[in-house]
Amino acid sequence: MRITYSQDAEIAIAVVSYLARKSGTIYITDAVARKRGCTATAWVEHCLVSAICGNPQPTPSVSKQAGVHRAVALKKLSNIVKYGLGEEARGRKQADKKKLRQSQFSDSELWRREDDFARRTYASYEDYLAHQASKLDKVAERLRQNEEDVFQEFKERYDSCAELSGARTVLCLAARLGTEVRALHALGYFAVGLDLNPGDDNPYVLKGDFHAIVFPPGSVDAIYCNSIDHVFDLAKMITETRRVLCPGGVFLAEFEIGFEEGYTPGNFEAMHWRSADVLVQQIQELGGFDVESVRDLGMTRRGPRKLVVFRKPA
Ligand SMILES: C[S@@+](CC[C@H](N)C(=O)[O-])C[C@H]1O[C@@H](n2cnc3c(N)ncnc32)[C@H](O)[C@@H]1O
Repeated sequence: MRITYSQDAEIAIAVVSYLARKSGTIYITDAVARKRGCTATAWVEHCLVSAICGNPQPTPSVSKQAGVHRAVALKKLSNIVKYGLGEEARGRKQADKKKLRQSQFSDSELWRREDDFARRTYASYEDYLAHQASKLDKVAERLRQNEEDVFQEFKERYDSCAELSGARTVLCLAARLGTEVRALHALGYFAVGLDLNPGDDNPYVLKGDFHAIVFPPGSVDAIYCNSIDHVFDLAKMITETRRVLCPGGVFLAEFEIGFEEGYTPGNFEAMHWRSADVLVQQIQELGGFDVESVRDLGMTRRGPRKLVVFRKPA
């Protein structure tokens, strides 16, 4: 089949996905593209990126931002081509993703099992740091789209946490772009984040490693972390958390259920646990904390989660 490429990117998406599903082959003439001084592929890609991103991109440009949009859009396009469109397509995609996660998690070269915990295999600590820091680029576009919802979710979470209300200063470990920090600011807390990769010029989050926190002993009232599954050395990270917390301070840990409770880690988790109870007990022992409360958060955007409040004895 042969079609002439139309400038209408919405139509292009429909046509491309329809043809790919029908025949697995797409032919596009480059008459239109030649008029614009670029190749047909570059022009189609440009229009698809514009349509999927919902805003016009510079004509086949190679600017950094356009490069990010283009990578995201092409990923979306390849998903459309593979799974089609609509609710059923989403179901097919989720099922494939789950199968892939399960097969990766049971690959003994990728994950080591040690008693109640599983750890991702890294060639070195530098390899771990590089892997973790590489996540931001892959999710930046999705983060931008969900930012407001995530902000509200954090705000409600903190607002309903009675144990946090006594704190004035809060440190957010692995805070990425700082949405959780902004939510704390909106509630009147002094808060700052720490992350291996906070992006460029981030006013909310410092660049740093939660295995070696830059702040002095006893300097914060509360610490929040929803990224324990990204820890390389839990004993080190929890020792640092305890050190930086003031006596009587609280550590709010938010995490997924365990791998024997129905959760399977994905591409960036560095560790996981058999059950939530096992993790709670391990953190309690490593930090010498009291467990103040365990809250079931139910199904969140990241799967079933718990919020556990640990307190450092006064
Ligand atoms: C699942 S994301 C969570 C981000 C954020 N808390 C949120 O909810 O949007 C995990 C984050 O952990 C960060 N991270 C991984 N290892 C870290 C480390 N050793 N020290 C600090 N941050 C780390 C990654 O850079 C990434 O931003």
